[in-house]
Amino acid sequence: MKTVDRMEDAIERVLLTKEEIGERIRQVGAQIASDYQGKKLMMVGVLKGSVVFMADLMRAIDLPCRIDFMAVSSYGSGTVSSGAVKIIKDLDIDLHGYDLLIVEDILDSGKTLHYITKMLSDRGPASIRIVTLLDKPERRTVPLTPDYNCFVVPDEFVVGYGLDYDEVFRNYPHIAVLKPEIYQE
Ligand code: IMP
Ligand code: MG
Repeated sequence: MKTVDRMEDAIERVLLTKEEIGERIRQVGAQIASDYQGKKLMMVGVLKGSVVFMADLMRAIDLPCRIDFMAVSSYGSGTVSSGAVKIIKDLDIDLHGYDLLIVEDILDSGKTLHYITKMLSDRGPASIRIVTLLDKPERRTVPLTPDYNCFVVPDEFVVGYGLDYDEVFRNYPHIAVLKPEIYQE
């Protein structure tokens, strides 16, 4: 990856501003709060891409809830899925009786969420749903639709607001496309 002094220098264009993201998360959070009235909500964030989204979404849901995190292997340093999903950090909390809401940054091929949903459903939760910040439906290889999604995006590699390229740009506040030269060594 080509290195830059300021993140702005690497950005080709911004797809979604932090203001647009914040406004949409408030809507989705209100919808989730209304759907989970009287339920035992546990939000499960998939590390590391979901951390920024999780932090904003949980505060947009006006209900008592618990949170936990798990980490699975993802794309490594490239931009194409290896297909391999491996648990790197498991949950701390027993899931029996909880209404799980899996929180993911982006639904791409669908392999990661397909695997996680199957694994967690074997642990006796009352229900499982998925909320994603971004959905790239054109890239789906496993049939999976998020129960809640904030934005549909075109088939382009995006960074920022938790999403990385080679572990960088997670702290960029907007969702953006990188300049092509950044991908070169
Ligand atoms: P899937 O298993 O193909 O659905 O991949 C999901 C994971 O791939 C996400 O959690 C991201 O970590 C990563 N990913 C997919 N598309 C992008 C992208 O455009 N930018 C950054 N990460 C991505
Ligand atoms: Mg990633």
